[in-house]
Amino acid sequence: MTFRKNILCIGAGYVGGPTMAMIAYKCPQYKVTVVDIDAERIKQWNSDDLPIYEPGLDEIVKKIRGRNLFFSDDIEKAIREAEIIFVSVNTPVKNYGVGLGMAADLQYWEKTARQIRDVSDSHKIIVEKSTFPVKTAQAMERILTSNSSHVQFDILSNPEFLAEGTAIKDLEYPDRVLIGSRMTESGLKARDELVEIYANWVPMERIVTSNIWSSELSKLVSNAFLAQRITSINSFTAFCEKSGADITEVARAVGMDSRLGPKFLNASIGFGGSCFKKDILNLVYLCRYYGLVEIADYWESVVRINDYQMRRFVLTMLGAMFNTLAGKRLCLFGFAFKANTGDTRESPAIYISRRLIEEKVELVITDPKALANAMNDLKGLEGKISYIEDPYEASANCDAIAVVTEWELYSNLDFKKIYKNMVKPAFIFDGRNILDHEKLFEIGFNVFPIGKPALTHFE
Ligand code: UDX
Repeated sequence: MTFRKNILCIGAGYVGGPTMAMIAYKCPQYKVTVVDIDAERIKQWNSDDLPIYEPGLDEIVKKIRGRNLFFSDDIEKAIREAEIIFVSVNTPVKNYGVGLGMAADLQYWEKTARQIRDVSDSHKIIVEKSTFPVKTAQAMERILTSNSSHVQFDILSNPEFLAEGTAIKDLEYPDRVLIGSRMTESGLKARDELVEIYANWVPMERIVTSNIWSSELSKLVSNAFLAQRITSINSFTAFCEKSGADITEVARAVGMDSRLGPKFLNASIGFGGSCFKKDILNLVYLCRYYGLVEIADYWESVVRINDYQMRRFVLTMLGAMFNTLAGKRLCLFGFAFKANTGDTRESPAIYISRRLIEEKVELVITDPKALANAMNDLKGLEGKISYIEDPYEASANCDAIAVVTEWELYSNLDFKKIYKNMVKPAFIFDGRNILDHEKLFEIGFNVFPIGKPALTHFE
């Protein structure tokens, strides 16, 4: 079978895998290949046990793998054959040198750019898919054109807006697809080729084009705004707990203002995930680089309040349980950074676990999808930690439960049964406000929601 186009994606992670699966699924006329330097990962993509959990992904991959979706570790061959190359390698925050803890670490990205340059012998369109700092496309162009051959490259920016846990839905029905290009003749032609791919399933009015720098910046700004909304609502939780107001009622009233809207106003222990903190700190770093100190401070405070919110959660537990947690057994309900994913990157659970272990808690962790990652994240911590998938078994003989991830299954548990097997007085700290607090209180629990006064059986 001959395909109309050869599309390649370098990087088989949370973004590259699902995105390419969707393109291949919607466009049987294209051949889509996904490569990665991690051969083990590719093996997993070719197996029945995919390396990431994402609702709906399994079904799609199984349907089209081997038809027009291929996973391979032969990167050079795949580059040579491709006409369009998506670059979706990871860009973690630097953990060394200048920009430590803030700037994006571009080493994987740069290696990829050099590899594309060195093996290409025909024109290619390169699509930036991972979130990069603004002006990365320009650096990419410089590397690609710094060779002696006369192969021509066009760089596009096509940031990913999918959220984990809903990636397949986000890809199938995106709010918008953003494509940034050079405004030159070949840049516009490349842009149109990418538009043509998305037009196979996305309505034209949702495909937005812009210049390349606007596209790169829009991604960072979108994430900064989203994170700021969570921080804004979270910033009122401590106030509500003290004043008797209820954050859920407040958020409802605020969200009904159509200028604000109801989404992303759920108070929590703080946001996690691979994007928000990293992207904001990237923005902060760029602002500082341009000497915009006040603007950098403004956005940095979004991250600072988020850290405060996690700290506060642990302090609430400590205060509620008579100012000592040493030797008490505490069960974390959930470890993933949010529901419907096994991803634990930047999960508040990591910080909370570390702090609890410092307080000499015996920690029990339960999560339907994230236990393997949790074990990895907490490796080397000196303390008692056990990992138990069944929440009934996990909470037995515990003094307290802390809900960290909003998995739906936790709202449907039999809490009478759980209460019976716990040490008394029994505590629940609902970091996500997903449980029925009144009912838990009636069962006998001392209940500490986020942003609402506590319900306790003590004076
Ligand atoms: C985010 C963006 O949504 C996505 O567009 C971007 O491309 C990548 O970053 P993701 O990190 O997968 O996606 O998760 P998201 O659903 O945005 O949640 C981020 C964090 O905020 C989670 O820890 C979540 O639990 C928390 N959150 C979200 C809240 O605490 N309250 C809310 O109301 C919403």
